[in-house]
Amino acid sequence: MATSVDTRQLPTHMKGRDFLTFLEYSPQELQELLSLAAHLKKLKRSRTPHRLLEGRSVAMYFEKPSNRTRVSFEVGISDLGAHPFMLRKEEINLGIRETIADTARTLARYVDCVMIRTFAQKDVEELAEWSSVPVINGLTDDYHPCQVLADLLTVQERFGEFKGRKLTYLGDGNNMANSLMLGCAMVGMDVTIASPSGYQPRPDIVEKARTLAKESGATVAVSDDIKAAVKDASVLYTDVWASMGQEAEAEARKQIFKDYQVNAANMALALPEAIVLHCLPAHRGEEITADVLEKFADVIFEQAENRLHAQKAVMAAIIP
Ligand code: CP
Ligand code: NVA
Repeated sequence: MATSVDTRQLPTHMKGRDFLTFLEYSPQELQELLSLAAHLKKLKRSRTPHRLLEGRSVAMYFEKPSNRTRVSFEVGISDLGAHPFMLRKEEINLGIRETIADTARTLARYVDCVMIRTFAQKDVEELAEWSSVPVINGLTDDYHPCQVLADLLTVQERFGEFKGRKLTYLGDGNNMANSLMLGCAMVGMDVTIASPSGYQPRPDIVEKARTLAKESGATVAVSDDIKAAVKDASVLYTDVWASMGQEAEAEARKQIFKDYQVNAANMALALPEAIVLHCLPAHRGEEITADVLEKFADVIFEQAENRLHAQKAVMAAIIP
């Protein structure tokens, strides 16, 4: 089918690359992905066909539950003219039924890209190492780069500029905190992670973010001082206190994180124009109060929508 997109404007220099953290991309390339995502969003809204990957196939493999990632990838792949299909855990059993290397080399003979959601980042990296087609990280215990690309698109839409703005994340120093630190540092937005001691992000990832921030002129802070963290923030961000795989710790974590809730009192310390973002799913009464979530529902569900556009940009840019 014909496309009305001027393909000469599409970046071609990222073809064949994986999307595993943000560290495979330069800040300039990240900006290019954001611009492409904004462009694809306009095309989608105007119902302009944009089948940039006609005839390709993309496999999706999930070892954890999903609503947003599953649906936005499946719709996005179809929008791009490619064929999406799901691989169930019981079928593939990554690293158990056969080696990850053999799974990767086999899949790469059939499909043009593999999107994977699993536990260990090292499994995704091993899959990517052996795969001759691009691998996209749809969430691991350590990173959630697709989510943060959508988050940055949402911030850019709301505020235009990243520089001079602060994003404050309240809660667990988890995959979201890690990817937010890297993403904000790359685009030049100040980022503060407020987490209790023992639950702060891994020091090596904080260091990576600080190195990136030095180049972009941003700051990266990690603290347990909630009030100082929230003060003057343009974006307050939160995520569940017990991530997928940590269900057994859920009750204990409610106590540990109880002061880190995004609520009206914390919002009052942020800038008057501040927005709240949440990657979802949300647990009302835990990491966010129902009233704050509903007050910011427009932007939070726009953020969820932006997963579609952001991931389409990644796929259009990297799938050869
Ligand atoms: N935010 C996010 O990744 O949502 P799902 O777990 O529903 O995919
Ligand atoms: N930290 C959460 C993010 C969900 C999108 C988890 O890993 O479950």
